[in-house]
Amino acid sequence: KKEIKSFKVENEQQLEEYRLKFIGRKNIINDLFSQLKDVPNDQKKAFGLAVNELKNLAKDTFQAHIDELNNNKAGGAQSFDFDPTLPVAPNQTGGLHPLTIVRNRIVEIFERIGFTVADGPEIEDDWHNFTALNFPPNHPAREMQDTFFIERDPDIALRTHTSSVQVRLMETDKPPIRALMPGRVFRNEAISARAHCVFHQIEGLYIDENVGLTDLKQTLYHFAKELFGPDTQVRFRPSYFPFTEPSAEMDVSCNICKGKGCNVCKYTGWLEILGSGMVDPNVLENCGIDSEKYTGFAFGMGIERLAMLKYNVKDLRLFTENDVRFLRQFKGAE
Ligand code: PHE
Repeated sequence: KKEIKSFKVENEQQLEEYRLKFIGRKNIINDLFSQLKDVPNDQKKAFGLAVNELKNLAKDTFQAHIDELNNNKAGGAQSFDFDPTLPVAPNQTGGLHPLTIVRNRIVEIFERIGFTVADGPEIEDDWHNFTALNFPPNHPAREMQDTFFIERDPDIALRTHTSSVQVRLMETDKPPIRALMPGRVFRNEAISARAHCVFHQIEGLYIDENVGLTDLKQTLYHFAKELFGPDTQVRFRPSYFPFTEPSAEMDVSCNICKGKGCNVCKYTGWLEILGSGMVDPNVLENCGIDSEKYTGFAFGMGIERLAMLKYNVKDLRLFTENDVRFLRQFKGAE
């Protein structure tokens, strides 16, 4: 009893020492309990009561110490809960979404070679999403991108690609222009493992005097090696986009099977990752840029697709389901 009463508790460390001695799992009062079996039968009851009393005293004194410490801490004006027996709360940090990781990485690669980042609205007018980009009204090329229109005003739509930001940039800036346009885009497509009605693109635009196809190829080759590794090969296939001429799609060599053929590259050894081309002079003129003086190239890619290839994700829907078991796997990923 004396020991309990005279134990000095003036700080949290001493409080913990007190707790270990009188309250914790291996406290000395428990030792007394275990001696009960050696006590003569007629004294057992009295002994038990006495030890119990000690136990209560230890507990009450502990609480009194806590109250006193709290009062001192709060300057006596208020008390707050202080429970030294609680385990330390684990330090939970968040992680970046895989699409953010890939977008940041792409932006970083292009920023190092002088590109800046530009932004634009997700709700667009027909001019910026289509007409300025050389999709004439009623032209079949518009069918390439299933569009969500706003019913009350057919001039307004959700942008189907971030090329609309290229138009805005060319309208306001003078060449040289070197910019990247990441953003969310919308297409009226059924949701499946490979397609979604909402996804993300990154486009790039480079306009200056004497920009040629070699610049386009070397820039994108550099990008592919930075993103997928130095051994990555690229190939260009002719393609069609209304706003570029000539147009090409770029494939990268499949790093998963190294060209030997696997399910990811469908046994071809190549994966398509982006569309590109030399900006059509009509588009430059539409945006007020002298097409005799300036030329440029543009490219565009889907961030989901790149993230799927980079991290071997089989179903695009995982990116929007927010299942923490999926997302946690990217903690600290690059
Ligand atoms: N805007 C095109 C698309 O969404 C991609 C692209 C951009 C192609 C720039 C060529 C040049 O499909």
